[in-house]
Amino acid sequence: MAFKYQGSLAESVSHLCGRGKGILAADESPGTLGKRLKNTPELSHLENVEETRRQYREILVTSETGSCFGGIILHEETLLQSTKDGKPFVEILKGKGVLPGIKVDQGLAPLGEEETVTKGLDTLEERCAKYREQGARFAKWRSALKVTGSLPSRQCIEENAEQLARYARICQEQGLVPIVEPEILITSDYDMARSREVSTQVLKEVVRRLQEHKVDMKLCLLKPQMVMPGSDCPTQAGSDEVAAATLDVFDECLPGDLAGVFFLSGGLTEEQATVNLNKINLLARERYNNAQPWKLSFSFGRALQASVLKLWKGDPSNAPACREQSLALAQANSKACEGLYQP
Ligand code: 13P
Repeated sequence: MAFKYQGSLAESVSHLCGRGKGILAADESPGTLGKRLKNTPELSHLENVEETRRQYREILVTSETGSCFGGIILHEETLLQSTKDGKPFVEILKGKGVLPGIKVDQGLAPLGEEETVTKGLDTLEERCAKYREQGARFAKWRSALKVTGSLPSRQCIEENAEQLARYARICQEQGLVPIVEPEILITSDYDMARSREVSTQVLKEVVRRLQEHKVDMKLCLLKPQMVMPGSDCPTQAGSDEVAAATLDVFDECLPGDLAGVFFLSGGLTEEQATVNLNKINLLARERYNNAQPWKLSFSFGRALQASVLKLWKGDPSNAPACREQSLALAQANSKACEGLYQP
């Protein structure tokens, strides 16, 4: 049965998956952006209030990144904000051909002592309808899975997969393309074998639940981390190894009709994230010839913003340099989607 907004969903997916296009994740909650400000020495003097966040997001929204970004994920607060001159952000994005997206989860809640599930399902349907009216065309829901020798627990994998599937189905019914983000946290010492094992378990369960809830895969995007050792593992992997492990896991877990995979950057540096994405696309070209099942692109947060934030320093006179840097990062990743990035 077709969804009420079937045509619009298909148009949005096709736009987001356009050639050389990726997604900017600029949807940090006020708390998370506050932490980024505090942890960046150049910005630690700034007060984390709505106007500070608006000024920073204005730079991202007004950068000339329309040929590289199919969409930008915004926080609820940002969706309704405007430039200093009073132009709504949503209108500016529409004018550039960039789809406004919206983070619809409401953060993490404890599951037992060490794990989490995600909040926000109870009010999701009405919020999705409202966000669509306000201009959003796609959405994001993040779950976070911690890895140790014994975690994630089976309960954690199953509950988060179930939430992601229910979220995705509600989004499609309400006319928002769902980005399904089961993030396996990188901050740990697990090795490559464990990363492959956990990624496979998690993605298999997520796909099983999506299918159970009759989520239309052709109208759905996945946002995983790349398959690699945790950041504290003494043996790190090069981009060739990351690319091979990532595609091996996808071959085993992902259905061919899934519309696209948009990676998170998860704490990688800007350069590492781009080099890995480039390698993944080069390997995919070799492995699948002309029959690549999914678009392999980016939905980076930190890897598209870290150096922009540093340059900004909270000073409006730095905005032009920030916009240039934002564009340079966007262009590098746009090339990496095609396997054309050269460091
Ligand atoms: P990072 O690329 O910084 O991991 O952020 C992506 C994101 O949207 C996390 O939810």
